[in-house]
Amino acid sequence: MSLIRLAALVMLLATITSKPVTQLKLSKYLKGVDMCSTCVTFGNENLSQLYQNVTGPTIPSNCTVLCKDLADSLTYQICIYLCSGAGFNPFISDVQKANPDPIYFCELLNSCPTIVGGAASISNTYVVPTSGSVGTTFKVEMTFAVTNTTGTGQVKLTVNPPDTTLKPFSSSYLNEGFEIGSYSAKFEIKTNSSYPVGNYTGTLQVCSGTCGMTNPNEATLSSANVKFTIK
Ligand SMILES: *[C@@H]1O[C@H](CO)[C@@H](O)[C@H](O)[C@H]1NC(C)=O
Ligand SMILES: *[C@@H]1O[C@H](CO)[C@@H](O)[C@H](O)[C@H]1NC(C)=O
Ligand SMILES: *[C@@H]1O[C@H](CO)[C@@H](O)[C@H](O)[C@H]1NC(C)=O
Ligand SMILES: *[C@@H]1O[C@H](CO)[C@@H](O)[C@H](O)[C@H]1NC(C)=O
Ligand SMILES: *[C@@H]1O[C@H](CO)[C@@H](O)[C@H](O)[C@H]1NC(C)=O
Ligand SMILES: *[C@@H]1O[C@H](CO)[C@@H](O)[C@H](O)[C@H]1NC(C)=O
Repeated sequence: MSLIRLAALVMLLATITSKPVTQLKLSKYLKGVDMCSTCVTFGNENLSQLYQNVTGPTIPSNCTVLCKDLADSLTYQICIYLCSGAGFNPFISDVQKANPDPIYFCELLNSCPTIVGGAASISNTYVVPTSGSVGTTFKVEMTFAVTNTTGTGQVKLTVNPPDTTLKPFSSSYLNEGFEIGSYSAKFEIKTNSSYPVGNYTGTLQVCSGTCGMTNPNEATLSSANVKFTIK
């Protein structure tokens, strides 16, 4: 079974309602574009290529040369925008520092808000239903309290299948920081015959930065376990 595909089956139901903590300055060319999520998407898909490039035998001489072989013209423009915004040498140093962590990369580039001292606590978790046959859609929901303003981070669900030869799969929301308050997040797992029967365990996390990474200001602020059974 393709685990990549399994991961894609965890669907994100609702967008978490949050206001970006920091209003980012946008260039006139990118007005109306959310630079943080744009940068993180760019980083998810293209950071490793840039990393290989700037650690390779021929280091490019400027942003134009560095960005020119990226997949398409939009990607090229985003690369140029980020690279010339930071300056060529700082940009390649950020690429080297951050790979493979797109959120940290975008914080270094000031595309995503960074806040030190964020705090959150998961208050409740729900799985509906807790048990069902193959084909069941399991809804996993949590509520959490933010007790000190957070910066850019993730809200993530990781699921461990009962068959330990299968890798865990996960899905996450990017957020640009939460004000103090209460929030909820929902995930949906649509199962089919690709899913082995048995007990599944899941971990919900609210993270500062990328969950599981340990760059400056990255941490799991709160986590909780859930479980469900396919019978
Ligand atoms: C990054 O690279 C992939 C292919 O490698 C491409 O499809 C994608 O559109 C790129 N651009 C952005 C902005 O993520
Ligand atoms: C990588 O480096 C080469 C050699 O400097 C350059 O021609 C190319 O455009 C670079 N960029 C990418 C994204 O591969
Ligand atoms: C970038 O470097 C290339 C090759 O060294 C050069 O031809 C080009 O004019 C430079 N572009 C800019 C914008 O400096
Ligand atoms: C709360 O966050 C502020 C910055 O937003 C920070 O200065 C302060 O230390 C944090 N408080 C705690 C208890 O972590
Ligand atoms: C499970 O569902 C997904 C779509 O949600 C589909 O891509 C996949 O092929 C399905 N697997 C089987 C074995 O039916
Ligand atoms: C699944 O969990 C239930 C209790 O939650 C337990 O009774 C059952 O034996 C478990 N099944 C397997 C295959 O581990």
